[in-house]
Amino acid sequence: MATPIQRQAFGLKILNAGHPSIRKLKSQGFQAEIHGNKFWNSSFLVMDYLKRNPLPKGARVLEVGCGWGLLGLYCAKTSDAVVTGIDADANVGPYLDLHARLNHQSMTFEKKSFNQLTKAYLANFDVILGADICFWDELSQQLFNLIRRAQGAGVSQTILADPCRSPFETLAKRSAAAFESVERIDAGISRPTKATGALLIVRSDT
Ligand SMILES: C[S@@+](CC[C@H](N)C(=O)[O-])C[C@H]1O[C@@H](n2cnc3c(N)ncnc32)[C@H](O)[C@@H]1O
Repeated sequence: MATPIQRQAFGLKILNAGHPSIRKLKSQGFQAEIHGNKFWNSSFLVMDYLKRNPLPKGARVLEVGCGWGLLGLYCAKTSDAVVTGIDADANVGPYLDLHARLNHQSMTFEKKSFNQLTKAYLANFDVILGADICFWDELSQQLFNLIRRAQGAGVSQTILADPCRSPFETLAKRSAAAFESVERIDAGISRPTKATGALLIVRSDT
């Protein structure tokens, strides 16, 4: 059987690597450089959580390390969220824009790294989301600092998901020790694909 070029999950259309529009962007030179070359399953774990714990309507959401931006687009679609995605790799932007058009949603993309997100910038958001972004030790440190700035900026919650790599576990342990309201939740789904991992949720202590 031929590999499907597109799928539908959590109400979103998601293109696979073999889809002509994805191939066209690649051939135009948009080659992701830090693993943002596809949609990653940990985003589904956050969508599954948000399905049961919806965001307030119109929440201002920042998706960090957004890659193709499907998690942010899910929030736009289900909660009328006003969504910005940041990623250190500018080449993921066209893939995000493509999925925004395909799903009739709007999401702003900015090329920024975690370290560039100042407290003043983070104060513009209610919620920070990120999936599959804590895969190197240095990212664990950068994300810990980012959560601390977000707490200081009054962001009400930060939700990160990961398939439980060791930098993520380090981040979860350090966060539990440093911040007032921290949950680490084991997570798993069987549809649209089997995926397991954990969510780290840090709520504002102000
Ligand atoms: C494994 S991909 C996950 C993409 C997306 N979150 C998803 O679930 O499909 C990791 C993403 O994090 C981005 N990234 C890595 N290091 C970063 C940093 N220091 N600042 C911002 N983005 C970063 C990469 O460019 C890539 O798009």
